[in-house]
Amino acid sequence: MTAFTDLQQRLRSERHTWLVTGVAGFIGSNLLEALLKLDQQVVGLDNFATGHQRNLDEVRSLVSADQWARFRFVQGDIREPGDCKTACHGVDYVLHQAALGSVPRSLADPVLTNSANITGFLNMIVAARDAGARRFVYAASSSTYGDHPALPKVEDTIGRPLSPYAVTKLVNELYADVFARNYGFDSIGLRYFNVFGPRQDPEGAYAAVIPKWIASMLRNEPVFINGDGETSRDFCFIDNVVQANLLAALASNTDAVNQIYNVAVGDRTSLNELYEMLRSSLVQRCAYLRDAVPVRRDFRQGDVRHSLADIGKARQRLGYAPAYRAEEGLALSMAWYIANLGLDASP
Ligand SMILES: NC(=O)c1ccc[n+]([C@@H]2O[C@H](COP(=O)([O-])OP(=O)(O)OC[C@H]3O[C@@H](n4cnc5c(N)ncnc54)[C@H](O)[C@@H]3O)[C@@H](O)[C@H]2O)c1
Repeated sequence: MTAFTDLQQRLRSERHTWLVTGVAGFIGSNLLEALLKLDQQVVGLDNFATGHQRNLDEVRSLVSADQWARFRFVQGDIREPGDCKTACHGVDYVLHQAALGSVPRSLADPVLTNSANITGFLNMIVAARDAGARRFVYAASSSTYGDHPALPKVEDTIGRPLSPYAVTKLVNELYADVFARNYGFDSIGLRYFNVFGPRQDPEGAYAAVIPKWIASMLRNEPVFINGDGETSRDFCFIDNVVQANLLAALASNTDAVNQIYNVAVGDRTSLNELYEMLRSSLVQRCAYLRDAVPVRRDFRQGDVRHSLADIGKARQRLGYAPAYRAEEGLALSMAWYIANLGLDASP
């Protein structure tokens, strides 16, 4: 039995109250779904900056009426201390996901990204501390490795941030550490590596590569590769991220707490390989993909060249064991996009 199966079993008989910030977003709504399915009590906070009501509606359709009745939604902004305080009231565990993602967005508007990701983070950790929450688990990022060339990435060795977004995620880690040392407030930072899966938004200038490419292929639109396509990432399916969050929240060994962890699979896929994986798995459905080729354009500013995680620390201290490799997660994501992009489902 894995640590996660154990934990799921335990949660089914123990009800806690969780706050998921960014609950209407991709990762937040998947955390909500998992927690409600485990009969937990959940408060969600979101201002719909990049999240959607449709994500909450989908979760509602996937859980029972009793489970949905255990969810309370607070529409509010993490930049407002009062909203954070309201959301934290009576909460045991905080899973802080709300932030403005995307390196290019942060380059276009660093002040906006700073306000959500740094001021918002600080408001949340203060509110969680003041409400007496047991633990604050937060979304950190692999972008914190910045320009450090070493592969695989090990938690203690980081470089200089390459974007305002990366600065904000590094500052989150610094604040969490300072809160542990000065106020004894426990937290765990999870450095996510390119997460993907159902409900990740394929639309807009700041969409992530996997949903954007799947949507483009399904719609017979051009797929753009920035640079030579040898840029690589450790793509991580959402269920692995859900697992890491729950393990982090409930970890009871002292060496697990007030730490940072890589959350990934420990596999590297280049953009050229990703393109081929997606093309070949869709070609039966979309005959026009048989001879399709991507459109090449310049490297994107602020992007890290290679990303590959060492997940040994999360394995050892949290019992994290990613259950999905990239290909398996891609197949599940593909099925969801086909069903949800409003396209004809027949091949
Ligand atoms: N998706 C990834 O690959 C990835 C990788 C590394 C880190 N992360 C981090 O994970 C977290 C979740 O990312 P996601 O991919 O689910 O993005 P997302 O955009 O789908 O979700 C973020 C959610 O936060 C909400 N939000 C933003 N600003 C807010 C504010 N001021 N007040 C209240 N709510 C606000 C948005 O409306 C949205 O619902 C973010 O912190 C992100 O930086 C994601």
